[in-house]
Amino acid sequence: MNFELVPLTLQQAAATATDCLVVIVPESFKPGRDGLSGLIREAIDSGDLEVAAGKLLTSWRAKGVAAGRLVLAGAGNGDPAGTRKAVAAALGAIRSTPVKRLTVIFAGPSAGEGLRAAVLAAAEAAYAYTLTKSKPEKSRLSHVTFGVADVAPLQVRFDQGVGLAAGVRTAREWANRPANHATPSMLADAAKEICKGGKHMQCEVLGPRQVAKLGMGAFMAVAQGSHEPLRFIEMRYNGGAKASPPVVLVGKGITFDTGGISIKPAAEMDEMKYDMSGAASVLGVFRALADLQPAINVVGLIPACENMPDGRAIKPGDVVTSMSGQTIEILNTDAEGRLVLCDALTYAERFQPRAVVDIATLTGACVIALGAVRSGLFTTSDDLAQTLSRAGESALDPCWRMPLDDDYAEGLKTHFADVANVGGRAAGSVTAAKFLQRFTTKYPWAHLDIAGTAWKGGAAKGATGRPVGLLVDFLLAMQGAGPESHKSSEEGGTSRSAGGKRKTRKSA
Ligand code: BES
Ligand code: MN
Ligand code: ZN
Repeated sequence: MNFELVPLTLQQAAATATDCLVVIVPESFKPGRDGLSGLIREAIDSGDLEVAAGKLLTSWRAKGVAAGRLVLAGAGNGDPAGTRKAVAAALGAIRSTPVKRLTVIFAGPSAGEGLRAAVLAAAEAAYAYTLTKSKPEKSRLSHVTFGVADVAPLQVRFDQGVGLAAGVRTAREWANRPANHATPSMLADAAKEICKGGKHMQCEVLGPRQVAKLGMGAFMAVAQGSHEPLRFIEMRYNGGAKASPPVVLVGKGITFDTGGISIKPAAEMDEMKYDMSGAASVLGVFRALADLQPAINVVGLIPACENMPDGRAIKPGDVVTSMSGQTIEILNTDAEGRLVLCDALTYAERFQPRAVVDIATLTGACVIALGAVRSGLFTTSDDLAQTLSRAGESALDPCWRMPLDDDYAEGLKTHFADVANVGGRAAGSVTAAKFLQRFTTKYPWAHLDIAGTAWKGGAAKGATGRPVGLLVDFLLAMQGAGPESHKSSEEGGTSRSAGGKRKTRKSA
């Protein structure tokens, strides 16, 4: 998909020969003297065009419009969320048409945040999973041009949107791939490939022997039930000063979660191919970093393995020793995410990080608590809570802070080890976070439970690419001075690709 940003008035847009012209119309729309403005005004006055976000009026060979199709898309109050809805609805409406080239124009003030949201929405609508289809439906749409009054002040946000869209796409694609097409080794190869494609990037992959040498007894315990060998993936992006401590992202990479001996019921078990969505989001963030090149150091860690029942699998009641030295009684082999994460969190200590954020499809309880709208955010650091929450809002990828009172850890006590891997059913997403917290004493830490937000089930089954947007905005905010600095200016923080010469940007 190619995206392009060009200066364009409504009048010029009407005269542009393209397959489809999409006009984003906010409530505040003020018509100019041009014909297209007049048409929009009449459509609103007649009641045929509603400007509520997501409402559409579509026409073919409209008078005075050179484009074959004209889509007027209501954008509500014109904020980024309204703009996103407008673009998503418009592209949904032309999905089955032969439109190849599309122009999107804003019939109102176009701000950077709205433009970025529009780019992301267009990329999202154009994505189609094809890997394991013998006759894939090709997305015909190949070129989207965004027309704005003045390009210069919007270029950085536009480029950011294109880079972020590539990252979101990477995350969606890997999360969507079936478990036999997304094994731990395949994730490792994907990580290497991503790091080859960006400056200042390195990737290192550890196998079973190296992981054993590190003493990652909890991670190994989960992997031992599968014939598929585990991988521990370490990605590094060094865009910041050498001495600047990195932000570490840790993504849960269970490429399939059967539950192990504590096996899951058959219904919807296929969706447990998505149990590596945290890992996919780390891959996606690094894909975006390759484009955006922010001045910050980032480490990505992915403990990847399958959770399978087998003659060699861990059994309920088994006690293992984690890399931290803490012993763990595995009362439920289905609480495997925290077992692979705890060793990765201990490993993260060696980077003396500024902050560690883990991202995991950790608990069904989080789906019950927050549904598919907000990811669960757990941290004792008010600074991290604020930076991550703001990033979630600005990226339209929101999260919600949950508690971490020590009383929630009561259920993790056991006579047979330092800690058990499950508490009771109550507040299940919190006890999971309390378990992880025991391994994070050496640095500021936050945990994102994305069990409800990483993918959609049912008829629209598919990965969302969340929380790549949140994480990228978080990293952009963490550039520069310290965790308390929030760059919410129109420029959206410093980016080396800012004002880049390339006008057309390809997002693969
Ligand atoms: N991957 C699951 C969590 C999950 C379940 C995410 C359903 C999305 C939808 C995780 O490994 C798991 O099985 N968690 C258990 C924990 C329990 C055994 C304490 C759960 O949530 O049931
Ligand atoms: Mn599980
Ligand atoms: Zn799991």
